[in-house]
Amino acid sequence: MYKILSKITLVPTLHEFVIEAPRVAKRCKAGQFIILRIHEEGERIPLTIADFDREKGTITIVFQEVGKSTKQLATLNAGDSMLDFVGPLGEASHIDNYGTVVCVAGGVGIAPVFPIARALKEAGNEVIGIMGCRCKDLIFWEDRMKDACTELRVTTDDGSYVCKGFVTDKLLDLINERGKENIAEVIAIGPVPMMRAVANLTREYGIKTIVSLNSTMVDGTGMCGCCRVTVGGEVKFACVDGPEFDAHAVDFEEMMRRGRIYKEEEQKSLEKYTNKSCTCSCGCGGAK
Ligand SMILES: Cc1cc2nc3c(=O)[nH]c(=O)nc-3n(C[C@H](O)[C@H](O)[C@H](O)COP(=O)(O)OP(=O)(O)OC[C@H]3O[C@@H](n4cnc5c(N)ncnc54)[C@H](O)[C@@H]3O)c2cc1C
Ligand code: FES
Repeated sequence: MYKILSKITLVPTLHEFVIEAPRVAKRCKAGQFIILRIHEEGERIPLTIADFDREKGTITIVFQEVGKSTKQLATLNAGDSMLDFVGPLGEASHIDNYGTVVCVAGGVGIAPVFPIARALKEAGNEVIGIMGCRCKDLIFWEDRMKDACTELRVTTDDGSYVCKGFVTDKLLDLINERGKENIAEVIAIGPVPMMRAVANLTREYGIKTIVSLNSTMVDGTGMCGCCRVTVGGEVKFACVDGPEFDAHAVDFEEMMRRGRIYKEEEQKSLEKYTNKSCTCSCGCGGAK
């Protein structure tokens, strides 16, 4: 069993858990993820390793409540435990001294970008962070990002905090200020449409860009084929070949289509869970 040591609700429906998982903490690197299961009949939930402490043997995850399983996860508190916490999974980020790197984070993507930005800064890069959310109330981990980056630019879609606009607007400003030849690489993590927009922008300027794909996963071992994505015309599995890929080669349209495949089942599962038709004491909320 994997114990939750602390829980912080960062913004409504977005939570940070610190979990006791010494074996994962010992081996994990920036860019990797875990798959957890709350109880024996629970769905597997892939989540990025947002932070880790090797000495304390802890892993930090940040997750958004979107459907049945993440809503159920949000009902757990410090002191509760979960059944499985498997990882580290996926290929780690490529960390080297590239020069100037721009880390672009959208919404919940701030959490996975943080350890990558920190590792790149530790490797001697100038790391310019751009983080954006829909509005002020959804901004989190600004201080952590400030520490992890050499410079941080913040934006909100509605202008309720710092600057109105999208992360792509800030990225374009930066390209114009610095010159495309002075940006070695862009790393973008966030909602798929945001990653696609960043990819379309940097393609125009020929700036190498990496995205982390959150395709739907089941086993996380390359066996089930659920996380299949097309990259450069080739079939890849996000769980073992990724989650990071060359943004300019990813077929985002296909990824979005595949992301909608289980919409009906997910909706039914959420409704069943919300109606709490089950009165057993297993904590499934009727949604097993
Ligand atoms: C490698 C990886 C890392 C991830 N890291 C994080 C993270 O750090 N924080 C976080 O909040 N989420 C992360 N996700 C997404 C997270 O796994 C899903 O939000 C979660 O599995 C949804 O489960 P659910 O049962 O609550 O929702 P469901 O009922 O399964 O789905 C509800 C909604 O979420 C969408 N959804 C379902 N699965 C995914 C998915 N895998 N990715 C994106 N959207 C999905 C569906 O299209 C649907 O609209 C990651 C996904 C992957 C593959
Ligand atoms: S999740 Fe099954 S192959 Fe990737």
